[in-house]
Amino acid sequence: MSPVDINQLVTDMIDFYSPQAVSRSITLRTSLYDQPLICAADGDSLKQVLLNLFINAQQAMLGGGELIIRTQKTDSSAVIIVSDTGKGIDPENLEKIFHAYYSTKTGGSGLGLSASKKIIEAHNGSIKVDSIVGQGTSFTILLPLEKK
Ligand SMILES: Nc1ncnc2c1ncn2[C@@H]1O[C@H](COP(=O)(O)OP(=O)(O)OP(=O)(O)O)[C@@H](O)[C@H]1O
Ligand SMILES: [Mg+2]
Repeated sequence: MSPVDINQLVTDMIDFYSPQAVSRSITLRTSLYDQPLICAADGDSLKQVLLNLFINAQQAMLGGGELIIRTQKTDSSAVIIVSDTGKGIDPENLEKIFHAYYSTKTGGSGLGLSASKKIIEAHNGSIKVDSIVGQGTSFTILLPLEKK
């Protein structure tokens, strides 16, 4: 773990992902907290988490849509919110999506979100989901800020 600016990490991943978004009619919107958000983190693992969320969003918006990435700050945490305007998740399935091998996709391994959750928890953080069928899905990640 080393000091990572979450805003910088998010920016890097958006730059990396944006050509794919364009080619799939996905509009990226970004709104970043106006100061650095420094967390003790494994940057490569967190990038993997973000990419998993972007790909899931893309797969939920096959006709295109909006992918919105925000960062915010609470007293003790950096907050990353990844929202899409995709098909959403049935309420009865919401608690299953973080389980290993749960997938509704042909050929999906169902490991993306379970691995992501493990990574976030290894940072003493949390990840939660909100979703409305037919409107979209939003993942909120909290990561403890490095103490000064
Ligand atoms: N943004 C989203 N919108 C709608 N459903 C989602 C979204 N993200 C995840 N899901 C649901 O949660 C399930 C589990 O996601 P997860 O990323 O763990 O596995 P997967 O995408 O199916 O396979 P993979 O291992 O290739 O990532 C998905 O199959 C899908 O049903
Ligand atoms: Mg996935």
